[in-house]
Amino acid sequence: MRAEVAAREDYPLPGLWQQFNYDAKGDLLYGDKRVLDWVERYDAPLSVIDAAWVRRRVTELRALLDTARRHTRYPAPTDIYYAAKARMHAGVVLPAYQAGALGETSSAQDLMHLELLFKAGLLPKAFTVISNGFKLPPERLDDRKPRKGVMIDDGAPPLDRYIEDYASAILRAHAVGLNVVPILDSLDEVDWFSRRVAAPMQCGVRLAFGLTADRLGLDSVNAGFGLTVAQARRALKRLAGHPLLHPRMIHAMVGAAEASPSLPEIVDGVRLSASLFFELKRDCPGLDTLNVGGGLPLLGDAYDHVGAFQAMMKAIQEEAERAGATTLPRLAFEPGSLIAAEANFNIMPVLAVKAQGLVGGAPILFGIVDGSFIESSIDGLLLGHDFPVIPANLANRRAYPMWLRGVTCDSMDVWPPSTVNRDWLRLPVPRPNEKLYVVVAQIGAYQESLTGKGGVNHCAVKEPAEIVIDGDRHVLIPSPTTRDQSRLMGYTRKMLNLLAPQSKAAKPEPAVAFQAGSKDMW
Ligand SMILES: Cc1ncc(COP(=O)(O)O)c(C=O)c1O
Repeated sequence: MRAEVAAREDYPLPGLWQQFNYDAKGDLLYGDKRVLDWVERYDAPLSVIDAAWVRRRVTELRALLDTARRHTRYPAPTDIYYAAKARMHAGVVLPAYQAGALGETSSAQDLMHLELLFKAGLLPKAFTVISNGFKLPPERLDDRKPRKGVMIDDGAPPLDRYIEDYASAILRAHAVGLNVVPILDSLDEVDWFSRRVAAPMQCGVRLAFGLTADRLGLDSVNAGFGLTVAQARRALKRLAGHPLLHPRMIHAMVGAAEASPSLPEIVDGVRLSASLFFELKRDCPGLDTLNVGGGLPLLGDAYDHVGAFQAMMKAIQEEAERAGATTLPRLAFEPGSLIAAEANFNIMPVLAVKAQGLVGGAPILFGIVDGSFIESSIDGLLLGHDFPVIPANLANRRAYPMWLRGVTCDSMDVWPPSTVNRDWLRLPVPRPNEKLYVVVAQIGAYQESLTGKGGVNHCAVKEPAEIVIDGDRHVLIPSPTTRDQSRLMGYTRKMLNLLAPQSKAAKPEPAVAFQAGSKDMW
């Protein structure tokens, strides 16, 4: 069988073949561009991020939600907040906002990017950002400041207060004029924000929630995030009558995309969240938004998104009726993977193909790629996520079962790994004077290391500094700063200039700091 036919058969994903196609020579096309043209120009491995695809998915999601609202006559608006933790890269974040998504952050790192875009005039006028995640009162971090007596004077930067202190970063971003809505995750956070807020601010309360259809189930859902229903009630009571901090949103995330909840499971979860919303609203009439979080399957997957949205909206309407509520909540979604995953693929060269033994008369083939799978495919190894791997050339040749091996000498460094439900890939075998290239697709969400971006970890998790001691002497290798990370994620003058002209949001006169031709912004 031809390798192209095998690829289409092995990955029957409508979205993948919306993006990719093969020409008569068996070369892979991305839209109307030949993938190998990029390799010929820039060499491989190479990671391609498509800003236009990000805009397209946001626009399509907006249309699907509007269709579901029309069909169910759901009267309240729906909001899309891009969960930037899925991918904080400027090439994904800014196009998402340009296409109408609002902001969602989970750390000081992504909030800092937003503050930067806001100051540059690149965000739409009525832009709002909701801040999820642990916003520990900064006093909790004080013991992590090196004490004078133990300070090591070797030119390393001092503790990066900004990245550590998400709570203060929220207040700071709010003070410069960004409409930030913290989603309070614990009673500690409720108290801290109540004491510190200095200007009117909306907030939300996150419920400890998960894949469950009944209240008893909530007690055993080990969300780790958010408040129990009893704590949420206490939180709203404490906030009632607060002169500045106004609770508007209940956050109840049913499940993440990788958990693949079924449609009935999602609808049951949303129904439960709606019944809790109406109950809490009795004590706190200002609540007006139900946020069901992320976890939506990709738009390119064979999945009935409109059907799912309609079922959710109907469930909320039924719960409203049961509760005797006259107004329905705005419905907020925080898609991460849906917006980011398809917008990025990697091109990897296969350096050699080795044949080792036979199975049933067929050679066992290993393609050695210029990269590593253990080091790079977090969701593949942890969650069994099956990233599509398709040939970028030679696709009109015959396909053979093949495993890809990373260049490390580690037995685990193989694709597909044992965690993925796929026995092998089917790829063409290059002749001695040829080189095969493969594309690893849909890697835009949560796979920063797959794209080989040094120093940027999954969800921008902080990298530990290293200290090497030898007796009384030592050398410190500091961890990357937030600014180092931002630069790696494309928050540079050059990148923002590339994206800015597309921006309907951009002010007619961009801030002087962003003029083309001068050095990178940091
Ligand atoms: C609070 C919150 N919102 C949104 C998301 C995005 O989820 P997904 O990428 O499945 O859409 C996550 C993912 O972990 C999350 O924790």
